[in-house]
Amino acid sequence: MKLFVGTLVVAGLAGVLALTGCTSPSVATQAPAATQAAVGKNAADLSGALNPYADNNGDVLPPGYAGPRYRLNHAYPVSVPPAPGEPAWREALGGKPIGKYNAIPYVQALKTAIAGDVRNLIDDYTKWDPIAAGWYDQPWIAIKSENWPGREPVQGSYPGPGFDKTTYPDLKVDFMQDYAIVYYNKTAAVTLHELWQKPNPYAPQPAGAQFAEGSMIIKLAVTTVSGKDWAPMQGTSRSTIFVPPPTASNPSPAVPPQLIPVYTLQMDIIVKDAATAPKTGWVFSTLVYDKDAAGATTWDKMVPLGAAWGNDPGVNDNNLNETVVNPVAPAYSKITLGWGGRLSGPNDAATQPGPNPGDPLQGISSCMSCHGAAEYQALAGLVPLPNAPGSAAWNEWFQDRAGNVPQTSGQTALDYDLVTRQALINWDAARGSAPAKERAARQLQLLRSRGKRTVR
Ligand code: HEC
Repeated sequence: MKLFVGTLVVAGLAGVLALTGCTSPSVATQAPAATQAAVGKNAADLSGALNPYADNNGDVLPPGYAGPRYRLNHAYPVSVPPAPGEPAWREALGGKPIGKYNAIPYVQALKTAIAGDVRNLIDDYTKWDPIAAGWYDQPWIAIKSENWPGREPVQGSYPGPGFDKTTYPDLKVDFMQDYAIVYYNKTAAVTLHELWQKPNPYAPQPAGAQFAEGSMIIKLAVTTVSGKDWAPMQGTSRSTIFVPPPTASNPSPAVPPQLIPVYTLQMDIIVKDAATAPKTGWVFSTLVYDKDAAGATTWDKMVPLGAAWGNDPGVNDNNLNETVVNPVAPAYSKITLGWGGRLSGPNDAATQPGPNPGDPLQGISSCMSCHGAAEYQALAGLVPLPNAPGSAAWNEWFQDRAGNVPQTSGQTALDYDLVTRQALINWDAARGSAPAKERAARQLQLLRSRGKRTVR
């Protein structure tokens, strides 16, 4: 299936190459062996027209459009002083290891810690200003190519998975299509500086992709269905994006983009907290919209679905010690949990349909399983298929590796960050790497095919 048409060269970006250090002769001596052969502007950008710091994919908003326009914040800090004292989320653990009784308070504390900045992103996106609030995102994601749709110009989103009645029988339309919006806090953005600006985004340093304590990354998932078409979305906040209207089989068809409404579904918060998660370094958490929760706004009604700080290696039944699921999370958000009930959200495509119509969904992945494949080169697939569930090969996706230990030996681990993996694939593809193009195509197709029986 051909998912995207188009070429690597994006209209409107030519000439935006005033990046300091692009042609520095000292570049080659600073690059790790793997990239030595191909550093510098010419090697990175054969056309001379690609801007890694582009704000969007070049789609031009309609005349008279007066709403928000996404700006990539890439003025990454070079260093951030550590915050004094214990972070509030760790205090929420009450001096005990994270577990069944304190994991949900931990997630609530993460939510509270970012509320001042991030509430607007969910409740009124027209007031959200990431540059003023000090949240950042990655280069090489905005540009449209054969196998990557790029960022649309209103919110900087890009398509994630889509779902149909196989996953949600109560959908009143044929399908829903999700879109993702990602931001890095100041501490996490220091790593983006190490990765992309030493010396410049044409010569990334994958070994610099390790995040410091206190790094936080959020991902908002919005979807095309309103409460009219899918009851769980009743009352959730609405915003706008500018995309080709998706179809059941193609999230980015080759038709002109339009302004379409989207609705808040899920918000992930992940935090580097090695004291709480000594094996992996990270706590992955997610919140979902609950129409029946108390509160005046959508932000208030985002309730924790759960937290995970590891993959429960070797656990092949559902007796998990490193995932906690909130017993009062809304029912719709629990049918897409991952392998053995490991944490995964409604936007995360960690399930596949069972063999027969009406069978429950089968969990095949989890937050930290999928994210454990963050490596350069991106040789590990994101999900363990087609290995047999529970086999040794399958369980390679369910280990508790430190963020600097790659799933595939010999590659560079990217500390569980999959946007970094995608950005490096896009960078490689932009400079003509055929394997990177092939990986981009495979990854996109895989992500888009989960949860839809039609494209199994
Ligand atoms: C089947 C694979 C898969 C699963 C399961 C998954 N993710 Fe991701 N996630 C991705 C991919 C691919 C990206 C990068 C592209 C994007 O932003 O959508 C990503 C991006 C993110 C980001 C942005 C930063 C980063 O690390 O790339 C966060 C935060 C995140 N996911 C959190 C979560 C959480 C929390 C869960 C579980 C509740 C989860 N993810 C489950 C595939 C997955």
